[in-house]
This record gives sequence, C-alpha cells and structure tokens, in this order.
Amino acid sequence: MENNIKLTEMSMSCGCAAKIGPDVLSEVLKNIPQGKDKNLLVGIETSDDAAVYRIDDQTAIVQTMDFFPPIVDDPYIYGQIAAANAISDVYAMGGEPKLVMNIACFPDSLPVDSMEKILRGGYDKVKEAGAIVVGGHTIEDTEPKFGLSVTGFIHPEKIITNCGAKVGDVLILCKPLGTGILNIANKGNLVSPEAYRQAINSMVTLNRFARDAMVKTGVNSCTDVTGFGLLGHCYEMAVGSGVTLKIMADSVPLLDEALEMVRMGIIPKGAHKNKRFTEGKVLIGNNVSKELIYCFLDPQTSGGLLISVSEEKVDSLLNILKNSPTRFAQIGTVIKKEEHPIIVV
Ligand code: CO
Ligand code: CO
Ligand code: CO
Repeated sequence: MENNIKLTEMSMSCGCAAKIGPDVLSEVLKNIPQGKDKNLLVGIETSDDAAVYRIDDQTAIVQTMDFFPPIVDDPYIYGQIAAANAISDVYAMGGEPKLVMNIACFPDSLPVDSMEKILRGGYDKVKEAGAIVVGGHTIEDTEPKFGLSVTGFIHPEKIITNCGAKVGDVLILCKPLGTGILNIANKGNLVSPEAYRQAINSMVTLNRFARDAMVKTGVNSCTDVTGFGLLGHCYEMAVGSGVTLKIMADSVPLLDEALEMVRMGIIPKGAHKNKRFTEGKVLIGNNVSKELIYCFLDPQTSGGLLISVSEEKVDSLLNILKNSPTRFAQIGTVIKKEEHPIIVV
C-alpha cells in the first residue's frame, strides 16, 4: 500500500513555497496588535527569523515555528527537511536549539508507517542539532503538513538580528539557491537524478556549521534565505539595517541545473509572488539575465544563512567555512543607503 502513496501528490504546493506572500501577510498583520514587553528583545516588527525574550542578564530564549506540506515523496527525508528548516531560524539568530514541539497534520489515507517515518526524520535531525523533542500536536487534515516549534537559548548580548548590516560589510551566502525550481522540475522528471540529489542533500543539511562559524567569528547581521527568496530576505536585511545590499550576480552559488530549468520556463509560483513583492525595490544591471533573477527570487526550503560580516573579520569566517558541508560564497557588499535597497550587478 505504501508504495502507492506519493506524498507530494497529496499537497497543493511544496515546502516554503507554500508560504503566504509577504505582501498579503503584511496586509493581514497590519491591524493586529503585537505583544509588548520590556524583555522582548526581538519581536515581529523587523520580520526577523525568530523572537527573542530575555530571562536574565545571561540568558534569553529564541522562539520560532515553521511547517509545510511535503516537498519530497520520501517521508523520512520530508521529516528531515522540515526539521532542518525550522531549526534554521534559531541558528539564524545565533542561538542554540534546545526544545522542540512537533506540529503535524495527517490525512486519513496516509499509512501509519509513513507518519512514523516523517516523525522519525524530524527526530533524527533534532537529535543531530543537539536538541530534544518534548511533545507536539497532530490533527487530521486532507493535506499532510509537518514542522516544528523550536525553543533555543542565546546570550542576550550575542543576538544576531537581520537589522545589523553595516556599510562596508561583506555578504556571505552559505547554501546554493534553487531548491524551489529543482523540486518543480523533478515533478516533471526534467532534472537529472544527480542534481536533484544535490538539492535534497542541501535541504537536509543543518545550518549548524555556518551558525557556529559566525558565532565564533562575530558578525553584524544574519538571516536565513527561505520562502521569500534571496532578494526578499535581502530586502528585509537592507531595510532593517538602513543600508543598500549590492549583490554580484555571478558570485551567487546555484544548485546544478537550476538556471537551466528556469531557461526552460520552470518557475515556481512563489518566485512570481516574490517578484511582485520586490518590484521597484531592486535595481538590476543590464548584464544580469532575467533567468538569473528568477533564481534569486526562488523560494528556498531549508535555505542557507545570509551573513553580513565586517571586512576585518571576513577572512577568518571564510577560513572556518572552508570545512562547511554546504557550498558557500561571498556574494556582495553592504553600501550606503541608496534609492533602491538592493542593487544586482
Ligand atoms: Co528565517
Ligand atoms: Co523564518
Ligand atoms: Co521560519
């Protein structure tokens, strides 16, 4: 029975591409009052990766949650990706994940064995991250969904927000782009098994190594690149920091075949949403192809950390990253605020 079940056929969209568009989300949240508290160090205002709440001078908690429909057919891999993706928001703040609650929606028709594999995949990633699953909640739904609420810890003076980028900083991206594109392409059997495997490997890989590297080095700003694509998350960092981010288009790491797929017209719906959101906010050089820009708008699932680091510290960061399990690259610089928050050349 299990062999007949294709997880992605049970879902309407996949991974972080299922996210509601940033324009719609800000409209919805506009009139909802937000919690206020003097110990709330990072709230919702700056669209950061996670909330941070101070307990005392030494300790703050980092709180986040993420869940989405299946992005792959293999239940165990789906569980791993969902967990790596959710935990990433704690890493993006510089935090250490500790407690995890599962959130799951399972259809009646999903075999128990598949449910178990999804949870097992999540459990194994959580364990790898040095955190523990302490509970969760499961309901019945027509479409499967899985994710985690993660609580982590951080020193209140060592929080890395998405608003700290400084003029002169260097931008480092710690995973290649293209997971959204390759997922859609794989549904149509257009992508090679090697390229697809590379995408899966990237998505199941924790951002732990990059997090440890940046905490060790000391950086100015960080966020992870997920549903809003590279440009969407760059926009949040630029505006939050009051700077302009200058991206060198040719330096941005891409998964194999991602660009090729875009040239064939494989563009995820989420990339179009992200294009609408970033319209007028990005100045694009004449030599940058439209197809490459779609890669930068591609919604990432379990994407890499985007780090803004001072010029003095960039070498030591890159030196540690040399041993990173994922591909990384220096993709641009931070310049004085200009009319456009992002420039791509
Ligand atoms: Co994030
Ligand atoms: Co997030
Ligand atoms: Co998130």
